[in-house]
Amino acid sequence: MAAFFMKKIIITGAGGLLGEASCRLLAEHYEVIPLSRAEVDLADAGKLSDYLDGLDFDYLINTAAMSGLEQCLDQPETAYQVNTEAPRVMAKICNQKRAKMLQISTDYVLDGRENKIHDEASPPRGSGVYSQTKLDAEKLVMQECENSVIGRVSWLFGHGRSTFVDQVIETAQKGERGGYISNKFSVPNFSDYLVPVMSKLLESNLTGIVHLTNDAEPESWFSYAEKIVKNAINLGMLNENLNLLDKKELSDITFFKEERPQYTVMRPKRLSEELSARVENWEAGVRQYLKQKLENSLTNR
Ligand SMILES: NC(=O)c1ccc[n+]([C@@H]2O[C@H](COP(=O)([O-])OP(=O)(O)OC[C@H]3O[C@@H](n4cnc5c(N)ncnc54)[C@H](OP(=O)(O)O)[C@@H]3O)[C@@H](O)[C@H]2O)c1
Repeated sequence: MAAFFMKKIIITGAGGLLGEASCRLLAEHYEVIPLSRAEVDLADAGKLSDYLDGLDFDYLINTAAMSGLEQCLDQPETAYQVNTEAPRVMAKICNQKRAKMLQISTDYVLDGRENKIHDEASPPRGSGVYSQTKLDAEKLVMQECENSVIGRVSWLFGHGRSTFVDQVIETAQKGERGGYISNKFSVPNFSDYLVPVMSKLLESNLTGIVHLTNDAEPESWFSYAEKIVKNAINLGMLNENLNLLDKKELSDITFFKEERPQYTVMRPKRLSEELSARVENWEAGVRQYLKQKLENSLTNR
């Protein structure tokens, strides 16, 4: 009988939102090597390099990042180490080992000053420390690793940790009013729906920048919150007469010290044209996610 070997995949940020979904869903098809802060602090490039040198692997997905914008502004050197230098080191080692690397990036590298939908050809702009460190990583990863792909994602929700979706539901369930920004736009994505397409990207010959998103209409944080609440009402998680959502403007939020690019809606042009792949629609994802949340709360009673 022929022996069956699974390809090995390293997943960084294994305890984070996209990392958790990647480890859970890819374990069926790959031998997953989860990499979290407990194994290596990515701010230490030397340790990271030694750790990766000692492993054999076919693929690496880097989901890890310092992603709090104000945290990056306050700690720019650590942000650079984690968001730029660590991916560069990973890319260099992937290239030496002939492993394919998928670097997860962000819609926040896009310009965002015009109400314009961006495909991969749109010129980026580093609008702050987080955005600039992620943009620099995109360039360095592509330079260091011939067989690399950059997957830009936006507005994630999922099982790995609490996100906007959970916060909207929890606020509404408590009967409290929630203020949501109505003049900043992007596209939400369910982490579980991204993972199968991430796997396709790794198995393909595609390299360079890819917009890793479902092809949906732009949402503001306010319209996103409205749709979350409507779906929760349909599932019986909230009362029908809820009218607790208030509109806010980006300029109303005084604790944002770092610029938020305002219009970062991505189109997944290369996914559809060059990979014939699509990410499932986020609103179906919200329904699936909320149903699972409801089932879990019932079984845990
Ligand atoms: N979430 C979004 O809406 C969104 C939007 C656009 C782009 N992205 C990008 O998508 C990727 C995944 O996002 P996510 O929401 O899954 O992130 P996340 O939940 O914040 O997880 C990030 C992971 O990185 C790890 N990490 C951070 N600093 C580290 C360090 N110094 N050493 C080792 N590990 C470290 C964290 O570990 P600890 O738990 O130990 O801190 C965490 O597990 C990121 O690259 C992010 O930039 C996310």
